[in-house]
Amino acid sequence: MLQASTLTIEGLCFRYPEGPPVLEGISLELAAGERLALLGGNGAGKSTLLLCLPAVLPYGGTLRLDGLVARKNKKAVRQKVGLVFQDPGEMLFAPSCREEVAYGPLCQGRSDDEILGEVHRWLHWAGLEEKADTPPFRLSYGERRRLCLAAVMACRPSLLALDEPAAMLDPAVVGDLVELLNLLPQTTLIATHDLRFAARVADRAAVLFGGRIVYDGDPAGLRNHEKLAEWRLR
Ligand SMILES: Nc1ncnc2c1ncn2[C@@H]1O[C@H](COP(=O)(O)OP(=O)(O)O)[C@@H](O)[C@H]1O
Ligand SMILES: [Mg+2]
Repeated sequence: MLQASTLTIEGLCFRYPEGPPVLEGISLELAAGERLALLGGNGAGKSTLLLCLPAVLPYGGTLRLDGLVARKNKKAVRQKVGLVFQDPGEMLFAPSCREEVAYGPLCQGRSDDEILGEVHRWLHWAGLEEKADTPPFRLSYGERRRLCLAAVMACRPSLLALDEPAAMLDPAVVGDLVELLNLLPQTTLIATHDLRFAARVADRAAVLFGGRIVYDGDPAGLRNHEKLAEWRLR
């Protein structure tokens, strides 16, 4: 069974060493199964916020997953968070697609039967069954992005964090991706700068600008928003 987590972010702050503040007090609450598009221009801090979720970056403020304070429960929280990087080159390393998807569940110490089940299920979901023995570097860019998603899904995260999942995909591939994402029950944060994509995959949109959330609501309400240009979304 795939689970969905609740996420509470309170006063999240972060700056890179020597750099200016990137996140300056972000508060967000996601109900179980909610899907939020995190919108913002280049450099707004979307990727940084996603990296805080598995408590990788040393942030200020408090993150809670299913009520667990992330900083104090890193192991449990990391089991729950599935982070998919924007660049598949940062994730893929195995000699075949099959091994790529098997790696996560293997690290989780799951049984051989379970691992085989996950590999079958998620390669099928990603439309990569016939490429099970193919090395990831032989895949098309869109296929590599789907393989990254499959590899993360095989770990059964209950919170998904997807960094620019539609970037550099052609329109037909984006359409397939939208269908795939809309089948998933997990609580999901999707970082994107693409308003139209956001409206297709999320029921809620939050805009990150100047280190803060400046809009939180219906993606449709953003379409003709007077501040879109200021927020670098148009
Ligand atoms: N590893 C890093 N070291 C220092 N500064 C960084 C690093 N990664 C990102 N930044 C800076 O943090 C800010 C936010 O970046 P990022 O989270 O990547 O934004 P986005 O994903 O919205 O484009 C930018 O000003 C960027 O230059
Ligand atoms: Mg980014």
